[in-house]
Amino acid sequence: MDIIDAIRARKSIRGYKPDPVPKEMLREILETAIRSPSTMNTQPWEITVVTGEVLKNIRRGNIEMFNSGVKPHAEVAYKPFEGNYRQRQVDLAIQLFKLMGIAREDKEKRAEWTQRGFRFFDAPAGIILSVDRSLGELMAVMDIGAIAQTICLTALKYGLGTCINDQGIMFPEVVRKFTHIPDSKLMVICIAIGYPNWDFPANKLETSREPVENVVTWFGDA
Ligand SMILES: Cc1cc2nc3c(=O)[nH]c(=O)nc-3n(C[C@H](O)[C@H](O)[C@H](O)COP(=O)(O)O)c2cc1C
Repeated sequence: MDIIDAIRARKSIRGYKPDPVPKEMLREILETAIRSPSTMNTQPWEITVVTGEVLKNIRRGNIEMFNSGVKPHAEVAYKPFEGNYRQRQVDLAIQLFKLMGIAREDKEKRAEWTQRGFRFFDAPAGIILSVDRSLGELMAVMDIGAIAQTICLTALKYGLGTCINDQGIMFPEVVRKFTHIPDSKLMVICIAIGYPNWDFPANKLETSREPVENVVTWFGDA
């Protein structure tokens, strides 16, 4: 697949077929993805792949936490969004809920949708990306961003879909319990990965982008 086609074809997949992803395939994807650039070639990524029983346990643990009212607490938290950023977040939710047939006032269905994220969107595999806490958080997180996108693009070649998300690791103690990722590692982000279920309504979403004119400032004549 041409690189431009891959970048344009990638989208967040929030519904998967149950078919497992062969370990060798995941290994090949990661072998390619570790060619990503990183600050001074520090390669800060520590990659934990979860499938099978371990993933089931994490799912169950996350849902128990959510249902018992524990506030999600990602280790790399973002501030509440304001202005344009908030609007884009709201627009995304409106589009997803419309596709999924979830009414604004339907608290039960909304909660079920949120739970889906905590379940790694029922994907057969998850990839957790962590960095050592001794590293400068900002640069390390940038490097994780680079490898995350590379994983998602590489996955396309194997017919796989992905969803970068923080919901899966919003209860870090659950993930640590079943993976033994030590406290000395900062869990930055995770990726749900598997074969897309193209009949799943949310997978039909085509998110919009601000036109390039609105986000680029040009200098010079080139
Ligand atoms: C750092 C990061 C965190 C994200 N967290 C979530 C998440 O927790 N739940 C979710 O459904 N999508 C999550 N997403 C996916 C974004 O919503 C998605 O990338 C965005 O809406 C653009 O859509 P697209 O990926 O289909 O192009 C996350 C994406 C990134 C890059």
